[in-house]
Amino acid sequence: MRVPLAAVLGRPVGHSRSPALFAHWLRIHGLRGHYVPIEVAPEGLGEALRVLPALGFRGANVTVPLKEDALALADDATPRARAIGAANTLTFGERLHADNTDGHGFLANLRDGAPGWNPTIPAIVLGAGGASRAVLWALLDAGVPEIRLANRTRARAEALAEAFGSRIRVVDGPVPLADAGLLVNATSLGMTGQAPLEARLDGLPPSAVVTDLVYAPLETPLLAAARARGNPVVDGLGMLLHQAVPGFARWFGATPAVDGATRRAVLDA
Ligand code: ATR
Repeated sequence: MRVPLAAVLGRPVGHSRSPALFAHWLRIHGLRGHYVPIEVAPEGLGEALRVLPALGFRGANVTVPLKEDALALADDATPRARAIGAANTLTFGERLHADNTDGHGFLANLRDGAPGWNPTIPAIVLGAGGASRAVLWALLDAGVPEIRLANRTRARAEALAEAFGSRIRVVDGPVPLADAGLLVNATSLGMTGQAPLEARLDGLPPSAVVTDLVYAPLETPLLAAARARGNPVVDGLGMLLHQAVPGFARWFGATPAVDGATRRAVLDA
């Protein structure tokens, strides 16, 4: 039997942590297989998706800037990929199948890291880019009754409210915090080399969970400030780990755990 192969496609792709993650899981499960980073330009994606299956690839993760194009090129897509408007997990077969596991990864990480999170009260999401779309899908799917969405460019937040419906409330200026159960940073602020996110946390209930999609550094200035005032915090690394589980299971046939050893394998890489 051919050695199973899978890839992560992106541009750039050299910084991706996914090869280290998949190598760890293949080792833990004693599986033969390889997972390789391949740099693909947007105009080359269609060709890559024709060639890879013929070479023995079972599927691929797709990252920036290819996620929307990947969905458009797919023959079939899950409802969540269509709702998010992008694909991150492609499975090759008779037909090209697209899924988006980013929202699932976000939620699994949140539930792991903050078992006390209350999804029946309002949440706050900062940022309205591609990552935010996956977060909004996940929070709506979890039943959150109201999501206050703030973004530097208001028009992008309004477009998301339009797409995701009336439970999204676009907020300008100070975001009401007093009854919130969750605050999510879905902007790129706080990432190494970027300005910190200047979020005002006074007034946020001490039980509200604060989470950041940024995972480099692991403890962003936002998470440090939230931790200092006693809020439960969840870092962003687990989202990356959890979003990869469905692809690994489909392509390599075993469902991997997201545990301390997995985190260490990725952080040490
Ligand atoms: P991603 O795929 O990671 O979501 P993106 O689509 O480029 O990336 O979105 C980046 C997000 O970070 C956006 O919400 C962006 O705000 P704008 O929509 O106004 O661009 C936000 N962001 C990036 N740099 C920012 C900054 N300096 N100040 C405030 N928001 C910023």
